[in-house]
Amino acid sequence: MQHPLVKEILLSKEEIETRVKELGKEVSDYYKSQQVKDNTVILVGLLKGCVPFMAKFIENFDYQCQTEYMKVSSYEGTTQSTGKVNVLLDLGVSIEEKTVLLVEDIIDTGLTVQYVKEYLLARKPKDVKIIALVDKPEGRKVEVNLDWCGFSIPNKFVVGCGLDYDERLRNLPYIAVCDTDKLDDWKW
Ligand code: IMP
Repeated sequence: MQHPLVKEILLSKEEIETRVKELGKEVSDYYKSQQVKDNTVILVGLLKGCVPFMAKFIENFDYQCQTEYMKVSSYEGTTQSTGKVNVLLDLGVSIEEKTVLLVEDIIDTGLTVQYVKEYLLARKPKDVKIIALVDKPEGRKVEVNLDWCGFSIPNKFVVGCGLDYDERLRNLPYIAVCDTDKLDDWKW
Protein backbone atom coordinates (compact mmCIF):
# COMPACT_ATOMS: atom_id res chain seq x y z
CA MET A 1 0.00 0.00 0.00
CA GLN A 2 1.14 3.53 -0.85
CA HIS A 3 2.23 5.72 2.11
CA PRO A 4 -0.41 8.41 2.88
CA LEU A 5 2.20 11.18 2.43
CA VAL A 6 2.86 10.01 -1.11
CA LYS A 7 1.21 12.06 -3.84
CA GLU A 8 2.63 10.30 -6.88
CA ILE A 9 5.20 7.56 -7.43
CA LEU A 10 7.76 8.92 -9.91
CA LEU A 11 10.19 6.00 -10.04
CA SER A 12 9.37 2.42 -9.12
CA LYS A 13 11.79 0.06 -7.37
CA GLU A 14 12.22 -1.83 -10.67
CA GLU A 15 13.01 1.34 -12.65
CA ILE A 16 15.57 2.40 -10.05
CA GLU A 17 17.24 -1.02 -10.04
CA THR A 18 17.41 -1.22 -13.85
CA ARG A 19 18.95 2.26 -14.08
CA VAL A 20 21.48 1.62 -11.30
CA LYS A 21 22.58 -1.55 -13.11
CA GLU A 22 23.18 0.51 -16.28
CA LEU A 23 25.07 3.14 -14.30
CA GLY A 24 27.23 0.48 -12.66
CA LYS A 25 28.32 -0.77 -16.07
CA GLU A 26 28.83 2.70 -17.56
CA VAL A 27 30.89 3.96 -14.62
CA SER A 28 33.03 0.82 -14.30
CA ASP A 29 33.69 0.84 -18.07
CA TYR A 30 34.86 4.43 -17.69
CA TYR A 31 37.34 3.62 -14.90
CA LYS A 32 38.58 0.54 -16.80
CA SER A 33 39.57 2.95 -19.58
CA GLN A 34 41.52 5.23 -17.20
CA GLN A 35 44.80 5.12 -15.30
CA VAL A 36 43.61 4.71 -11.71
CA LYS A 37 46.09 4.82 -8.82
CA ASP A 38 46.35 1.38 -7.15
CA ASN A 39 43.55 0.35 -9.52
CA THR A 40 41.19 1.47 -6.79
CA VAL A 41 38.40 4.02 -6.86
CA ILE A 42 37.45 5.56 -3.52
CA LEU A 43 33.67 5.85 -3.41
CA VAL A 44 32.64 8.58 -0.98
CA GLY A 45 28.97 8.27 -0.03
CA LEU A 46 27.17 11.23 1.50
CA LEU A 47 25.17 10.02 4.48
CA LYS A 48 22.44 9.36 5.15
CA GLY A 49 20.60 9.60 1.86
CA CYS A 50 23.18 7.71 -0.21
CA VAL A 51 22.74 4.39 1.62
CA PRO A 52 20.17 2.58 -0.61
CA PHE A 53 21.73 3.98 -3.81
CA MET A 54 25.29 3.18 -2.67
CA ALA A 55 24.26 -0.38 -1.73
CA LYS A 56 22.69 -0.99 -5.15
CA PHE A 57 25.49 0.82 -7.01
CA ILE A 58 28.43 -1.08 -5.50
CA GLU A 59 26.81 -4.41 -6.36
CA ASN A 60 26.89 -3.31 -9.99
CA PHE A 61 30.27 -1.53 -9.90
CA ASP A 62 32.67 -3.92 -11.57
CA TYR A 63 35.90 -2.17 -10.56
CA GLN A 64 38.06 -2.41 -7.44
CA CYS A 65 36.93 0.13 -4.86
CA GLN A 66 37.01 1.28 -1.26
CA THR A 67 33.93 2.73 0.40
CA GLU A 68 34.10 5.81 2.57
CA TYR A 69 31.36 8.00 3.95
CA MET A 70 30.93 11.63 4.87
CA LYS A 71 28.04 13.27 6.60
CA VAL A 72 27.20 16.90 6.07
CA SER A 73 24.18 18.87 7.15
CA SER A 74 21.96 20.92 4.89
CA TYR A 75 18.20 20.50 5.27
CA GLU A 76 16.95 20.33 8.83
CA GLY A 77 13.29 19.29 8.96
CA THR A 78 12.23 21.50 6.09
CA THR A 79 11.81 21.11 2.37
CA GLN A 80 14.01 24.13 1.53
CA SER A 81 17.81 24.05 1.39
CA THR A 82 19.47 26.57 3.71
CA GLY A 83 22.71 26.48 1.73
CA LYS A 84 24.66 26.22 4.99
CA VAL A 85 26.82 23.09 5.06
CA ASN A 86 28.68 21.62 8.06
CA VAL A 87 30.86 18.50 8.02
CA LEU A 88 29.49 16.14 10.69
CA LEU A 89 31.53 13.06 9.72
CA ASP A 90 34.82 13.31 7.87
CA LEU A 91 36.67 10.86 5.63
CA GLY A 92 38.54 8.08 7.41
CA VAL A 93 41.42 7.87 4.91
CA SER A 94 43.77 10.09 2.94
CA ILE A 95 42.62 10.66 -0.64
CA GLU A 96 45.84 12.32 -1.77
CA GLU A 97 46.60 11.30 -5.39
CA LYS A 98 43.57 8.96 -5.34
CA THR A 99 40.65 8.66 -7.73
CA VAL A 100 37.45 9.62 -5.95
CA LEU A 101 33.80 9.19 -6.87
CA LEU A 102 31.34 11.18 -4.76
CA VAL A 103 28.03 9.32 -4.42
CA GLU A 104 25.01 11.51 -3.71
CA ASP A 105 21.29 10.76 -3.44
CA ILE A 106 19.91 13.93 -5.02
CA ILE A 107 21.17 17.25 -6.34
CA ASP A 108 18.89 20.24 -6.01
CA THR A 109 20.49 23.68 -5.52
CA GLY A 110 23.93 22.09 -5.97
CA LEU A 111 25.23 23.83 -2.85
CA THR A 112 25.94 20.62 -0.89
CA VAL A 113 27.83 18.89 -3.65
CA GLN A 114 29.72 22.07 -4.60
CA TYR A 115 30.90 22.43 -1.00
CA VAL A 116 31.85 18.76 -0.64
CA LYS A 117 33.67 18.67 -3.97
CA GLU A 118 35.79 21.68 -2.95
CA TYR A 119 36.39 20.07 0.45
CA LEU A 120 37.62 16.89 -1.27
CA LEU A 121 39.75 18.78 -3.82
CA ALA A 122 41.55 20.52 -0.95
CA ARG A 123 42.83 17.05 0.03
CA LYS A 124 44.64 16.83 -3.32
CA PRO A 125 43.06 13.77 -4.95
CA LYS A 126 44.00 12.94 -8.52
CA ASP A 127 40.39 13.22 -9.64
CA VAL A 128 36.92 13.74 -8.18
CA LYS A 129 33.82 12.80 -10.11
CA ILE A 130 30.20 12.99 -9.00
CA ILE A 131 27.35 10.53 -9.39
CA ALA A 132 23.81 11.18 -8.17
CA LEU A 133 20.76 8.95 -8.30
CA VAL A 134 18.41 11.88 -8.88
CA ASP A 135 18.89 15.37 -10.27
CA LYS A 136 16.50 18.32 -10.01
CA PRO A 137 18.17 20.66 -12.55
CA GLU A 138 15.52 23.42 -12.15
CA GLY A 139 16.54 23.88 -8.51
CA ARG A 140 20.13 24.81 -9.29
CA LYS A 141 21.67 27.86 -7.55
CA VAL A 142 25.27 27.00 -8.47
CA GLU A 143 26.63 25.16 -11.48
CA VAL A 144 27.50 21.52 -10.83
CA ASN A 145 29.44 19.25 -13.11
CA LEU A 146 27.43 16.09 -12.62
CA ASP A 147 29.35 13.24 -14.23
CA TRP A 148 26.65 10.57 -13.98
CA CYS A 149 23.01 10.77 -13.01
CA GLY A 150 20.28 8.18 -12.64
CA PHE A 151 17.23 10.32 -13.33
CA SER A 152 16.32 13.96 -13.93
CA ILE A 153 13.06 14.90 -12.24
CA PRO A 154 10.92 18.06 -11.93
CA ASN A 155 11.55 20.47 -9.06
CA LYS A 156 9.29 18.78 -6.51
CA PHE A 157 10.07 17.51 -3.03
CA VAL A 158 10.53 13.75 -3.24
CA VAL A 159 10.95 10.98 -0.68
CA GLY A 160 12.00 7.34 -0.65
CA CYS A 161 15.06 5.30 -1.65
CA GLY A 162 17.15 7.18 0.92
CA LEU A 163 15.43 10.54 0.55
CA ASP A 164 13.75 11.76 3.71
CA TYR A 165 11.33 14.24 5.08
CA ASP A 166 12.35 15.01 8.68
CA GLU A 167 14.39 11.74 8.78
CA ARG A 168 11.38 9.63 7.83
CA LEU A 169 10.37 7.84 4.60
CA ARG A 170 13.94 6.90 3.56
CA ASN A 171 12.81 3.26 3.56
CA LEU A 172 10.16 3.60 0.84
CA PRO A 173 11.34 1.32 -1.99
CA TYR A 174 10.27 3.85 -4.65
CA ILE A 175 10.86 7.58 -5.23
CA ALA A 176 7.68 9.60 -4.84
CA VAL A 177 6.46 13.18 -4.78
CA CYS A 178 5.64 14.02 -1.19
CA ASP A 179 2.24 15.56 -0.43
CA THR A 180 3.73 18.71 1.13
CA ASP A 181 0.25 20.19 1.86
CA LYS A 182 -0.17 17.49 4.51
CA LEU A 183 3.22 18.08 6.20
CA ASP A 184 2.47 21.14 8.35
CA ASP A 185 0.16 19.37 10.77
CA TRP A 186 1.27 15.79 10.08
CA LYS A 187 1.48 13.55 13.18
CA TRP A 188 4.16 10.85 12.76
P1 IMP B 1 21.27 20.73 -2.50
O1 IMP B 1 22.39 21.21 -1.63
O2 IMP B 1 20.15 21.74 -2.55
O3 IMP B 1 21.70 20.29 -3.86
O4 IMP B 1 20.60 19.53 -1.79
C1 IMP B 1 21.23 18.37 -1.52
C2 IMP B 1 20.64 17.66 -0.34
O5 IMP B 1 19.34 18.15 0.00
C3 IMP B 1 20.44 16.21 -0.67
O6 IMP B 1 21.56 15.45 -0.31
C4 IMP B 1 19.22 15.84 0.15
O7 IMP B 1 19.62 15.46 1.44
C5 IMP B 1 18.44 17.12 0.25
N1 IMP B 1 17.35 17.17 -0.75
C6 IMP B 1 17.27 17.92 -1.86
N2 IMP B 1 16.12 17.74 -2.51
C7 IMP B 1 15.44 16.82 -1.79
C8 IMP B 1 14.16 16.17 -1.97
O8 IMP B 1 13.40 16.40 -2.93
N3 IMP B 1 13.83 15.26 -1.01
C9 IMP B 1 14.61 14.96 0.05
N4 IMP B 1 15.81 15.53 0.24
C10 IMP B 1 16.22 16.46 -0.67
